[in-house]
Amino acid sequence: MSILIACFSKSGSPEPDGSTGKLARIISGKTGGSLFTVRPSAPYPEDAEELNKKARSERESNARPEIMDYPQMDGVDSIVLVYPNWWGDLPMAMYTLLDNLTLDGISVYPVCTHEDNGLGYMERMLKEAYPTADIRKGLAIKGSIVHSDEEGAEKRISKYLQDSGLI
Ligand SMILES: Cc1cc2nc3c(=O)[nH]c(=O)nc-3n(C[C@H](O)[C@H](O)[C@H](O)COP(=O)(O)O)c2cc1C
Repeated sequence: MSILIACFSKSGSPEPDGSTGKLARIISGKTGGSLFTVRPSAPYPEDAEELNKKARSERESNARPEIMDYPQMDGVDSIVLVYPNWWGDLPMAMYTLLDNLTLDGISVYPVCTHEDNGLGYMERMLKEAYPTADIRKGLAIKGSIVHSDEEGAEKRISKYLQDSGLI
C-alpha cells in the first residue's frame, strides 16, 4: 500500500502549521505515508475576520484557488486528506488538488480538524464530486484537543488508522 498524506496549510508555508499540521505529521509517522502540503499560491490573511470572509466567499462561489504544486502520484493507492473544517466544507484549495488528480479507484480518507461541527456532510459531498474515487469513512478531531491532549488524540488517530486498514 502506498499512502499520500495531503495536508492543507493556510499560510502557504511548506511546513504544515497549527492543529491540522500536527495531525498530518502524526498520521504520516504512523502510516509511513509521504506528506504533501497543499500550498495556496496566495496565502490566506492572518487576520481572523479577513480569513473568515475570504474562506466564506470562496466556498459560496465554489472557487478553485490556485495551488503551488501537485504531488507525485506514481503507485499511490490511498490518500489521507488532512484539513480544517471551513464553513462546513473542505478549504476550497483541497478541491483544486482533487480536481487535478486521477482518482479512479483510489481510496480517499477525509480527516478534519474542527471546533464543533465535525465532518458534517463532507463524506457525501466528496462522493458526489468524485464518483470514481473510493471515498472512505472519515475522522474529525477537535483542533483544540490535538494541542491540549496529544496522547488522547494519538489514540483516536491510531484506532481510526487501524479500523481503516491503513496500519
Ligand atoms: C475560515 C474558518 C472557518 C471555520 N469554519 C468552521 C466550521 O464551520 N465548523 C467548525 O467546527 N469549525 C470551523 N472552523 C474552526 C477550524 O476548523 C478549527 O479551528 C481547526 O482546528 C483549525 O485548524 P488549524 O489550527 O490547523 O488552523 C473554522 C475556522 C476557520 C479559520
